[in-house]
Amino acid sequence: MKNEDRSTLSGCDDRNTGTRTDAAARNRVPVPHPTWIHRLSSILEPLDPAKLFALPQPLEVDLGSGDGSFVVQYAQRHCERNFLAVERLLGRLRKIDRKASRAGLTNLRLVRIEASYLIEYLLLRKMVQALHVYFPDPWPKRKQRKNRLVNFRFTELAQAILVPGGTVYLRTDDTDYFEQMTAVFAANTNFLPGETPPELSVIMTDFEKDFLTRGIKTLRVAYQLC
Ligand SMILES: C[S@@+](CC[C@H](N)C(=O)[O-])C[C@H]1O[C@@H](n2cnc3c(N)ncnc32)[C@H](O)[C@@H]1O
Repeated sequence: MKNEDRSTLSGCDDRNTGTRTDAAARNRVPVPHPTWIHRLSSILEPLDPAKLFALPQPLEVDLGSGDGSFVVQYAQRHCERNFLAVERLLGRLRKIDRKASRAGLTNLRLVRIEASYLIEYLLLRKMVQALHVYFPDPWPKRKQRKNRLVNFRFTELAQAILVPGGTVYLRTDDTDYFEQMTAVFAANTNFLPGETPPELSVIMTDFEKDFLTRGIKTLRVAYQLC
């Protein structure tokens, strides 16, 4: 096949002249589209759910949402709850934004920020019904462990922001991190081991699906605030 035939088939017929593409680009008016990403006006002001969500409903927070398949699916199944997806990478947040837009969700908002900062400073006391922490970065080397999100301080912050009876759901593929998770929650006597409801248990995250495909075992546990 000649080169010009190839370019016609791939829709690149004006690639060399530049005429049509350039004109289209010049005349294109940006069309505003709704976004589920909440831009923080200040990182000093706590988040107000009343300004984020249409309805005052129990709030669940997914820390480190990745590509967001979990939180989008779960929010679709629970219209009677509000969800906040927290992710530090903008590219991933945008993927979640597209998924939420396709699903037309009104009970999900996304925020780009460090999860530890959010729970320390931006979530108010007794504001959260459930925290989901799925496959947080494992920081496997001994020197890196100080970077792990789930440590004893995390349990104290979870205790402050959860409502009584609220739950922290944890999943990881890293055995050492799992031991750390269970140790820090065992050390905080305000939490007791909790149950993961079957309808939550069946929803796999993107990383989890990948681990399972590769035959990597994953671990999960839940803790409930007394
Ligand atoms: C291993 S991925 C897991 C993603 C998702 N939970 C899943 O299971 O598919 C960890 C995600 O957490 C995000 N992340 C890591 N540390 C974070 C932090 N301190 N604050 C916010 N997001 C963070 C990463 O960018 C990444 O998308």
